[in-house]
Amino acid sequence: MVEDRGQFSSRLGFVLAAAGSAVGLGNLVAFPVMASKNGGAAFLFIYIGFVALVCYPVMLSEIAMGRKSQRNPVGAFSMMAGSKGIWNWAGKLAILTPFMIAVFYSVITVWILVYLVYAATGNLDFLSQSSAFGEVTASPSLFIYLVVLLALVFFILMGGVRHGIERLARILMPTLAVMLLALVLFVKTLDNAGAGIAFYLIPDFSKINGSVINAALNHAFFSLSLGMGILITYGSYFNKDDNIPQSTRMVAVADTSIAFFAGLMLLPAIFAFDPNINPDDLSTSSVGLIFNFLPQIFLSMQGAVGYVGASNFATAFFALVFFAALTSLVSIIEIPIAYLVDEWEMTRKRAVYVQASLLAVIVIPAVMSLGMVEPLTSFTSYGGGVKSLFDVISDVFYETILPFVGFTVCIFCSYRWKMGGLSAELAVGDKSYVGSRLEKYVSVSLGTIIPAILLLVFVNTVATKYFAVNLFGI
Ligand code: PHE
Repeated sequence: MVEDRGQFSSRLGFVLAAAGSAVGLGNLVAFPVMASKNGGAAFLFIYIGFVALVCYPVMLSEIAMGRKSQRNPVGAFSMMAGSKGIWNWAGKLAILTPFMIAVFYSVITVWILVYLVYAATGNLDFLSQSSAFGEVTASPSLFIYLVVLLALVFFILMGGVRHGIERLARILMPTLAVMLLALVLFVKTLDNAGAGIAFYLIPDFSKINGSVINAALNHAFFSLSLGMGILITYGSYFNKDDNIPQSTRMVAVADTSIAFFAGLMLLPAIFAFDPNINPDDLSTSSVGLIFNFLPQIFLSMQGAVGYVGASNFATAFFALVFFAALTSLVSIIEIPIAYLVDEWEMTRKRAVYVQASLLAVIVIPAVMSLGMVEPLTSFTSYGGGVKSLFDVISDVFYETILPFVGFTVCIFCSYRWKMGGLSAELAVGDKSYVGSRLEKYVSVSLGTIIPAILLLVFVNTVATKYFAVNLFGI
């Protein structure tokens, strides 16, 4: 290795950075939308069950693999397997996945930046028009915002693990938590807020079916930044003698709590806008919700707090989402950088430049695939619809592949590294791990039921999305 890979300064540094990665659009927008459409608290119970019983052991495995190998995902798989072969491919998949997610996440983060600037400069009325999103996504000025965003992200990444990633999370994560709490308290003062809270918190189990369960697991993976090589890489920056199970629990709890509070912010706002609303009509996607519907809701607050008050609320909301997206974006772009530093023996600086260029090459057509350039907009079609390049990247890497990468991690840890190796690594820094109930649960489930569930969800998603066949029959 040519240079020091970097390390988090402390356990708190790791927890904040990993939470910074985990807390993103998935928590602030996608989770509230999913929960409100799919039975409120009933969805929450299922989601929490997946986080605790399926995702948490996979998180532990990824972090332990990283710490043991001190490598990026490709290095971790191939070094620990002791040979290149098939596991090298699992590692490569865990580099390609974050790279492609970085592409689609950059596109969305650019839109958020535009909305933030518009809301802060008094243009909430423009944003609330139904044509606004189409105009924003097709406007060439997006490229200016893209340059600003990527310059900021790569500037942070140039600072390295401790002075870049960790410092950003130390500043933004507490800020984000305080802002979220303030917005939750503010929306509670609006008329009909109580109806939104009731809708969110009263469970409706009749909405739960196979597709909802499938979506809950996919979303839990995305939200915890699992199956994208992030936790392997962050594990490699984790102190040798710190407690992995406890730190990981803190990350999972923080991520889930923020998702829960985001619902307490959005649903009262939505019901204040229209007390008779049926959340099924909200929008089909969280992108639709955040960019089309929320600005209308924010504008409607002017009846209560005036145009300036409504604009301030919208600005605070988009700033919150932007901060969350920025820490996530930084975390995901770190993975290919770690790969270049470890495997290609590049200096960090060079790796950052190479990654910035590679990302730009794919982000630019992805940005142009929403209305700017027709062949990219109508890129292909499957599952009964025409898909843009952006849709394809989002479908494959956001909605499909993550449980499969998680599956490879489970199989690798259980059958190649073997449970004894994993347990020994998890016991470093946590003397009580060996012989604990957690150890027993992980050793029974990680090679059996957990990968079986992940594979089933992956296969069902492929069948539904690309072949319009739902294996769960619902
Ligand atoms: N976990 C993030 C969220 O919930 C998503 C994410 C994606 C994070 C990609 C990092 C990288 O939005």
